[in-house]
This record gives sequence, structure tokens and C-alpha cells, in this order.
Amino acid sequence: MKHLTTLLLALASLCAAQATEPARLTIDAAADGHPIAKTMYGLFFEDINFAADGGLYAELVKNRSFDFDHPTTGWRLFGNVELREDGPFERNPHYVRLRYSGHRDIYSGVENEGFFGIALKEGAEYRFSVWARTLGEEPQQISINIVGDDPSVENTVAKSLPLRITSPKWQQYEVTFTAPATIRDGRLRLILEQPDPKRYSTSTAVDLEHISLFPTDTYRGVKNGLRKDLAEALEALRPGIFRFPGGCIIEGTTLETRYQWKNSVGPVENRPANQNRWHYTFRHRLFPDYYQSYGLGFYEFFCFSEQIGAEPLPVVSCGLACQFQNDSTAHCSMEELQTYIDDALDLIEFANGDPSTPWGKVRAEMGHPEPFNLKYLGIGNEQWGEEFIVRFEPFVQAVRAKYPEIQIVGTSGPSAGGERFDYLWKEMRRLEVDLVDEHYYANEAFFTNNADRYDNYPRTGPKVFAGEYACHGANGKKFNHFNASLLEAAFMTGLERNADVVRMATFAPLLAHVEGWQWRPDLVWFDNLRMMRSSSYYVQQLYATNRGTASLPITLDGAPAAGKELQRGLYASAVIDEEQRCYIVKVANLAEEAQPIEIVLEGLKRNTKLAAVAERTILVTDDPMAENTLDNPTRIAPYTELVPMTGRALNTVQAARSFAVYKIAIQ
Ligand code: AHR
Repeated sequence: MKHLTTLLLALASLCAAQATEPARLTIDAAADGHPIAKTMYGLFFEDINFAADGGLYAELVKNRSFDFDHPTTGWRLFGNVELREDGPFERNPHYVRLRYSGHRDIYSGVENEGFFGIALKEGAEYRFSVWARTLGEEPQQISINIVGDDPSVENTVAKSLPLRITSPKWQQYEVTFTAPATIRDGRLRLILEQPDPKRYSTSTAVDLEHISLFPTDTYRGVKNGLRKDLAEALEALRPGIFRFPGGCIIEGTTLETRYQWKNSVGPVENRPANQNRWHYTFRHRLFPDYYQSYGLGFYEFFCFSEQIGAEPLPVVSCGLACQFQNDSTAHCSMEELQTYIDDALDLIEFANGDPSTPWGKVRAEMGHPEPFNLKYLGIGNEQWGEEFIVRFEPFVQAVRAKYPEIQIVGTSGPSAGGERFDYLWKEMRRLEVDLVDEHYYANEAFFTNNADRYDNYPRTGPKVFAGEYACHGANGKKFNHFNASLLEAAFMTGLERNADVVRMATFAPLLAHVEGWQWRPDLVWFDNLRMMRSSSYYVQQLYATNRGTASLPITLDGAPAAGKELQRGLYASAVIDEEQRCYIVKVANLAEEAQPIEIVLEGLKRNTKLAAVAERTILVTDDPMAENTLDNPTRIAPYTELVPMTGRALNTVQAARSFAVYKIAIQ
């Protein structure tokens, strides 16, 4: 049906298009072109919108260690339950003691609300685990219940999950179970069983700590790892670079709550909880319960980079708390700066050091004796002003001195231009950083006006990392509608044409929980059971999966296809892919009409043969304001069709308001 609508639209506009001369896109196939970095398209990951805890990190229990600032956040305690703080994990000392209530009909237990509820899928397997001990020698039994709105489900699960705590010493217990039905909005309830009330006094108790529930079917089967559907969607973007852990969370609301990577490695039980900077936003969406468990920590980030085939790009705090929220008194003093520099140097050792080094040893003990082969390090997020540069410069010197092979990513601040931006770029050049991170969350006009942004950037000096960008519609239309993604596609032709300047680009933010978002648009949306790819996701995917190895010069009706002049509303770029042996041309048609276009490959060697048909993958829809939703996740999705070639030219009509990727095989 969708294809039919699109076809009818294309036919209707084809009639209109007949009258127009084809737009001639000429590619200089004889040119060497600009090599395109493997890191060109990638992922910006931040724990915003519940992207990590409650999202990619598949843990279903919130505040599993009772160590949020309010230790019982997310929990309901009932019966005779005591919160204690002399637990087995030094950096997460809280746990609960469940005592027999002394009354036959009063049970003691705890109940966790999860992240916007706990959801289970019928037939899927889950692993419950807990650190526990008995207070005396006698074994005790707890029951594990998932309670939801359907009492029959509650009973079935509850009865199947008794767990005997057998030792007065702390140890971890595990039990797996299969969900008998789908639960959308459940809670995890643990109850101390009271089989024979007469035999038990209130001195009978069990202690419970680090209470955890994961699906067993995680991404690549890693035990207590990542949510499979989300991780696979990210992998399918074929990212070349993976930036983590953010964003503003690197800086923290205060320095104390900045992301401290050293707290995110080692056994998960001992990673201290940290209040997430996104527990509130400037627009006053409040999520006081938003913390980082650090279960998805730097080790996991490095492993994930490796699994998805992306270069890791960790970013560290430069000693400045979020400058939007703090004045200069909140930042680290120059005397304290060395600690921050040491954290950065230690991170490189953690990633690349031999297992005989202190931090290399930590990595090896976590299961990865081989180095992660880290090549890039970001220092600071959206910083600005002299207070940044005085701190940044010693970082650069220290990293250069000890690890000259590491490429340093500096920043141009939060805006795409202006005084701060110019000042920072000047400083980044002076300090000879390797890449500069640019951010632009901007409206439609920005994206069309900036398709030629990099055409005139200097060809020497630092390269560009377009580290955070997304088209935010004017008039408050900040959602993932088709038109925003089309403008991103048009803008990205400029990134590709300037592959000698732009070496990395990452849309932001990446993931968002429909019930817990602070920022939109985002690339992938999810709830506790489902996920959907936005239209912008498909644009990113079309670029990344058709990256090519070198970008080639392209003209539109004889003039360089720079885009700014809005030549017929067409934006285009072309690449050769030496590995896949094909030419790839990307065309965004922003016009309201279908356009006849002719793609011509000039300068081909005489013996080069092209396939008789090209592939066209097109992203188009009937309504520019349409968006994918969890209920209708493929309202907008690309599809592929064949287009005949005439020798070295391809003549076709491209639908109004569409983005197309033409792939012409070399035979
Ligand atoms: O992507 C959301 C936020 O936007 C990032 O945390 C920050 O770097 C920027 O302001």
C-alpha cells in the first residue's frame, strides 16, 4: 500500500516533471577524490532520555543496590524491613534486611517499580540474581514475584520462583525463569517466606543486596548485557565511530556528579550510583529518580565499540562543570587539575596498556587482556572561554607527551558560529588538536543554508567532528518528522563532498524512552517492549551503509553542487566505493515537484563497464510532517528499486521531497 501511494505520487509528479529539462548531475569519475574516513558516520551515545539505565543496558531493576541519594528510591518496603549500610560492597554500602514479621498474615518484602514499570515478554527467559545471606545458620526462602495488572500472570510467575538462601555468608544467588505471559507494567516483588509462623521469631531474617533482573537473550548473548533490539539497531547503522559517554553528563550538574569513568569499571556491584545530569532539563521536565548505575560503563562501551566495528571515542571531563548551569566558582582549581589529567592518562592506559600496567590489569581482569586499540580522546564537551583553554592546554600537553599517537578531539563549544566559536577554533588551531567537535541543533533554514558549510573551510589544520547535530523544526516542531530528516540528508551531502575536512559526524541524541525523554528529536525511540527507528535513523543508515571510499567532484547543471543556491531544490554528492566496486550518488530533492534527473559518469576509463541497471534506495512519504511511532514503526522506511542505465548515464525521475541513493555497479 505504501509503495502504491508512493508510486501514484511519483506518477502524478512525473507528469509535471515531463515539462522540465532534467537536472544534470555530472560526476568526475577520473578524479582521485577525497578519501572518506572509516570513522565518517557514527554514533553519539549519552545517557539522556533513559538511554542507558532503562534503555540500552538491559537491567530491569531501578536502584538495584539501594544506593541512590535516597536509598529506597524506586522501592516499596513492607512488613518488617530495615535499610542497612554495612554491606559487602564498599562503594555501594546499602542493603535491606527482611525479618519475619511475627504475624501470620503479615509478610515482609520489597517491591521495585523498574524503569516506567517492569515489562516481560511471553516466552522470553529472565535471570534474577541477588546477593544475600541468612542471619542465622538456618536456610530461608524468598519468593520472587512479578506483579502486574493481570493477577493470573502474577500467580503463575510467583509460584514458580522460590529461592533458598542457604548461607550466613554473602553470596550471589541466581534463578532463571520463562515469562508465562507478557507484562507491560509490572513490578518485582520479593517476599520472605513464612512457612511455619510458630517456628520463626522476628530474629529470623535475610539480607538482600544488588537485586537484579535481566533478560537472558541480550545483545550477542553477553550475560547481563545490552538490550538486544536496541543494540542491534545501533549496529545496523554500521557506525565507524562510537562516542561515549555523552554530552553534558561528562561535565555533570556539578563536578561531583560528572561522569567518572573510574567509577564505571570493575565489578558492577561496586560501581557507585551517580545522579544523572538529565534528572531535570532546562524545560523543567523533572526526573528526580534518574541516576546512573554505571552498569553500562567504560569497559562495556569499549566492548560495544569493538562488537559493532566502530572506533571508540571516549570523552573526559576537563575539570569544568556544565557551564550553562554553573559560574566559574564551580570548576576545579588549577591546583586540582592534575587529578583530571591523570584520569585521562589512566584511561588511555586502561584502553591500551599492557596487562602488567595498573589500569591495563583492571581491563584484563574484566575479561579483555588485548588492548582496545584506542586512537581518539575527546577532552571536554561543550566548553567555552578562557577558563576552558587554560585547563585544556595542559591536558593536550600531557597527552601529547605520554601518548603522542592519540588523536585529540577538542571543541568549538555549543554553537555553530559566533564569538565563542571563532575564539575556540583559533585556540584549537594554535594547540594543533587533531579534530574539533562542532555542534548544531538548528532549524530548517540552518540545514539548507549550511549544505556548503565546509566547502570553504581551511584544508589544513584540525579536521571536523560534527559531533552533535539534528534538524529541530522551527516553531517548536521538535520531533522526528520526515521533513527534518530530509533536510539532514540534504545537509549531509556537504559533509560527504568535504570528506577531506569532515572526518566524523554523529547525529544526537541517539536513544529515547517514550516515557522518559528530556530531549528530542532522537534517532531511536523505545518503550519497555518495543522500539522504532526514526526517519532520521534511515538517513543516517543510508549514508553509513553507502559511505564509499572517496568522494568525487559533482556538478549540477554545470555548476559545483554546493547546494546553497538551492539549485532546483536538489542537493547531491557522489562517491566511489573501491571495495564494493560501485559509484554511489546521493540526491535529496527538496522541491515540491518530482524532478527528472540525469546522472552522468564522466571520465571513466575506456574499459570500465557499468551495470545495465542501477539500484535506487529511496526515502519518501506523502506527508512531510509524518513520523514513525511505536504503533506504526515503518510509516517511513526506505525501499529499493531498479533503475535502467543508458550506457554511462542514468535517466530517471526522483519523487518530490525525497532522498535517494543510487548505486551503480562497476562490472
Ligand atoms: O545531546 C543533548 C545535549 O546537547 C548534550 O548532552 C550536550 O552536549 C548538548 O548540549
